[in-house]
Amino acid sequence: MKKLISVLTLILTVFTTSNAKAEEGKMTDKNVLVAYFSATGTTAGVAKRLATAVNADLFEIKPQQVYTEADLDWRDKKSRSSIEMADASSRPAIADKVEDMSKYDVVFVGFPIWWYREPSIIDTFMESYDFSGKTVVPFATSGSSGMGKSGEIMQSLAPQAKVLSGKRFSADASEAELKTWADEWLK
Ligand SMILES: Cc1cc2nc3c(=O)[nH]c(=O)nc-3n(C[C@H](O)[C@H](O)[C@H](O)COP(=O)(O)O)c2cc1C
Repeated sequence: MKKLISVLTLILTVFTTSNAKAEEGKMTDKNVLVAYFSATGTTAGVAKRLATAVNADLFEIKPQQVYTEADLDWRDKKSRSSIEMADASSRPAIADKVEDMSKYDVVFVGFPIWWYREPSIIDTFMESYDFSGKTVVPFATSGSSGMGKSGEIMQSLAPQAKVLSGKRFSADASEAELKTWADEWLK
């Protein structure tokens, strides 16, 4: 009887361990993309650290027409960024496309905060793909503003996606900080 109990215990242990291992595997099996737009390099730095931290593919959302310093002058009401951001229907063209968006489960979308929200080129990005069944997690850098309504607006442009409100990071956010934050959606 003792022997039988030991054998049963052994079988149970092996079964539970392999099950736990399968679960563990599943946790890291998500296909993850970090897509980002960065006009002056700050968000690019955070995006690259995030992609390394969670072992994700990296895609730069490059504008077809690069933003010059004059374009970025927020004090000038007639600058390109001011004009774009004052018009909710503005959709600046993106140079390249993600090769196969269908393979990703989670898409982190990074950008600088412009006028308290996501830049218009992010709106172009959100309307360029079928995000059905995907989780979209916004992240941003800024002078000091938070995410504002970025997540809500992005959700309205991609109703098939599950778009979260996301988080604003400081320019020097560490790989460890980004990983702790991102792991929540990679379980
Ligand atoms: C047109 C424009 C508008 C901006 N609006 C805001 C804003 O509303 N709040 C804020 O804190 N920072 C604002 N900033 C600052 C940027 O969000 C910040 O410098 C960001 O880290 C730049 O990221 P990047 O280097 O990836 O482009 C603005 C910058 C520009 C060029």
